[in-house]
Amino acid sequence: MKACVLGRDPEVSGIGLGCMGLGVNYGQPQAKQAGIPRFTEQARKANEPIVGLLCRTAAARGHHHQRRPRHRERSQRVYGPRNRQEKTPAIEGSSTMTSQVPLLTLNNGVQMPAVGLGVFQTPPEQTTPAVQAALEAGYRHIDTAAAYGNEHEVGEGIRRSGIGRPDVFIETKVWISDYGYDQTLHAFDKSAAKLGTDWLDLLILHQPLPSDFDRTTGAYQALERLLADGKVRAIGVSNFMPEHLRQLLDATSTVPAVNQVELHPYFTQPDVQKADAQHGILTQAWSPIGGITFYRGTGKGTLQDPAILAIASAYGKTAAQVMLRWHLQRGRSVIPKSIRPERIAENFDVFDFDLSAGELDTLDGLDTGTRGGPDPASITLEHFGRPIPEA
Ligand SMILES: NC(=O)c1ccc[n+]([C@@H]2O[C@H](COP(=O)([O-])OP(=O)(O)OC[C@H]3O[C@@H](n4cnc5c(N)ncnc54)[C@H](OP(=O)(O)O)[C@@H]3O)[C@@H](O)[C@H]2O)c1
Repeated sequence: MKACVLGRDPEVSGIGLGCMGLGVNYGQPQAKQAGIPRFTEQARKANEPIVGLLCRTAAARGHHHQRRPRHRERSQRVYGPRNRQEKTPAIEGSSTMTSQVPLLTLNNGVQMPAVGLGVFQTPPEQTTPAVQAALEAGYRHIDTAAAYGNEHEVGEGIRRSGIGRPDVFIETKVWISDYGYDQTLHAFDKSAAKLGTDWLDLLILHQPLPSDFDRTTGAYQALERLLADGKVRAIGVSNFMPEHLRQLLDATSTVPAVNQVELHPYFTQPDVQKADAQHGILTQAWSPIGGITFYRGTGKGTLQDPAILAIASAYGKTAAQVMLRWHLQRGRSVIPKSIRPERIAENFDVFDFDLSAGELDTLDGLDTGTRGGPDPASITLEHFGRPIPEA
């Protein structure tokens, strides 16, 4: 059973075709400490470490803003005053529970756990236990969306875990039906109320709306407002192709912190990864173990790929773990979804081995160029619009 609210499900309903392509390695040095790259391209230019291993709970609360002055030339863009005072209100509660999860530093200094739990297609009644299982396993990051229809249950899982709100990184998404400046401000209120929090760690636009980009821009400007008001710690986008990023950057002041896109061994989107890196945007992989290649029952899935299985067997790991490790070593954020506690734990058990450069290249080389999800260019309100209920 799916958890989406109404209508067609844009995250699984489209098939796109592309050409064969190779994955890219942006030359990120491997971090021996955490076993994942310490620098993204943009952070490396700024000589700034992007990954650290933190033996505590909080996604360190470096709440900086990622604004850049309007009207600056692109070459002069900045990601925001890095020492700006924390404005996020209501940092209440604390936790005695600890987690060892590597952190990625976003372009405004906010730190985000590199591995989070995704809850797309997690039915509401299974969401609270899944979130609790994840937090118990050590996750400190949950990725949900207004369109998944389970934000309330995500909030409930966090509350029942006993882990303090500041120690869990909550990411959610605004659906296209709520785009436009005022509607998106209200979308924040709806999501925050359902999640049971006054503030969000990361709020992103779920899709570009190429047929009405002004609405997309208005929505993003609302995110900028929320960021300035300290209601969200970071803002970003999802499924933005390079041309959508260009359009957005031309019309707004804040470089997105994150671009969440379909990314697994069979679809690596090197052009998107390159554009993200050029702009200082962290690429976050959805369907990181290739769920979209098998959960619709179409074709050979990544979990059965012989090359991935061969690497997995050499390390005594599973195919899912090898794919997650590949993302982490390439500097990407991952948000694998599962409703099963044993798989949730398995997907978090990825910090005790290192893939070789050759193995990373092998995984990059599996790219087929074929998209599993809908082509972002095809997203319209007519086909994908659906009301997002009030809290
Ligand atoms: N922004 C977007 O447009 C967009 C689109 C899609 C997804 N997302 C986000 O990305 C998250 C992850 O993507 P996804 O759900 O599409 O795919 P995924 O995480 O790559 O794969 C999930 C599928 O794999 C199964 N699974 C999980 N762990 C496994 C393991 N260790 N071994 C074998 N099977 C395993 C799950 O089944 P069980 O649950 O039965 O274990 C489920 O069928 C979503 O939950 C959502 O948060 C965002």
